[in-house]
Amino acid sequence: MSENAMKIVNEAGHLVVGGCDVVELAARHGTPMYLLDEEVVRDRCRQYHREFEARYPQVEVAYAGKALLTVAICRVMEQEGMGLDVASEGELYTALEAGFPPGRIKLHGNFKSESEMRRALDAGVGRIVVDSLIELEHLNAIAQEMGTHADILIRVRPGVDTHTQEKIQTGQVDSKFGLGIYSGEAEKGVQRALELPRLRLRGIHCHIGSQLLDVVGFERAIDLMLEFLAELRDRDGFVAEDLDLGGGLGVRYTEDDDPPSIAELAEAMCSTLQENLSDYALPEPRLILEPGRSIVGEAGVTVYTVGVVKEIPGIRTYVSVDGGLSDNPRPALYGAVYEAIVANKADQEATQWVRVAGKHCETDTLIDDTLVQPVEAGDLLAVFCTGAYNYAMASNYNQFLRPPVVLCSGGADHVIVERETLEDLVRHDVIPEHLR
Ligand code: LLP
Repeated sequence: MSENAMKIVNEAGHLVVGGCDVVELAARHGTPMYLLDEEVVRDRCRQYHREFEARYPQVEVAYAGKALLTVAICRVMEQEGMGLDVASEGELYTALEAGFPPGRIKLHGNFKSESEMRRALDAGVGRIVVDSLIELEHLNAIAQEMGTHADILIRVRPGVDTHTQEKIQTGQVDSKFGLGIYSGEAEKGVQRALELPRLRLRGIHCHIGSQLLDVVGFERAIDLMLEFLAELRDRDGFVAEDLDLGGGLGVRYTEDDDPPSIAELAEAMCSTLQENLSDYALPEPRLILEPGRSIVGEAGVTVYTVGVVKEIPGIRTYVSVDGGLSDNPRPALYGAVYEAIVANKADQEATQWVRVAGKHCETDTLIDDTLVQPVEAGDLLAVFCTGAYNYAMASNYNQFLRPPVVLCSGGADHVIVERETLEDLVRHDVIPEHLR
């Protein structure tokens, strides 16, 4: 057995995920398939609780469902005492279908539709994170009409530039999300929220980016958020109950990634927070965190069958697998880099440099250049760290079927999302009269 928790190999030389032999799972469920190690997911939830609660009195850890949301995942999060962030009506619906306690749900979005806001109010979600001045008015009006109140946070843009992929950076001044602190818009939002009779302003929120590999951005954001909270207290008499600092902790996609541990993140965030609270003589707000990727990312493995191995002499070897862009758009979208192993030869030495290609009708490279075991058609290729933003971002491009999600728990496997069928692909198609 190797020391990396995600690269466990059994006596047969097969990769093991969550105690399950991946070769055996592929035979039963087919490929491509997403595997998710339940213990790893639960362990990450527990680490967040343990490390933050040891350093700060009041903490809510809300899993960011956008990373991977299914009804079964909601159940796991519920059992682990997590809150849940939803970013759309569909995510909200999924959570409610799972019976997730509405009071622990938080609704996000830079443009919430009326029906999203209504559904959230109707369900009685714990918080709605308001993203714009116009949304304050809309939400207040809807709450008024429904004869209810909305407990809200205001999302602000602290103006932190993080060193992450530009497309997943969100806390800087030039962003579509939230209200700017420097521009005065955020304070205006707070003042307006305090005036509107159907809104109960509970605090402020920020999220500075994703796949962050150091703690500096979090510390900077806390400094700016606390300075802002002190201003709100001094100028507007508003004292926040909640301080939501979003998600963003990175994961180890390859051996070159070295994200802080959850303990290191907790240490950096809580100490910066406590220093600021005492400098500004502010009471301790409830601290809310919204991790997504760092909860499920490393728990996921995608398993493909190798169909074709093509050597271009003097150039490289292409390994084509039975999935690609449709089950993992991240390499194409973000230049994301992954590592892989030949799951049925996991005990062999990796000696061959290959490019892993998908099977879509375009150049859908999954891994540009990676060292794997000697690979041939019929082998199983397992790509690591695909738990976050893979199934969640999957599509039916080229009418591919979305793969199943299999939860692996201590040697038992449970299908939590079934593979789509060909019938699913045309389920919503309509033939208009003139084409009949
Ligand atoms: N909270 C808010 C308000 C967010 O916008 C996000 C992610 C999170 C929490 C969770 O962030 P995490 O802990 O997962 O970094 N599709 C992209 C990632 C987009 C992230 C969007 N917001 C990717 O595949 O890298």
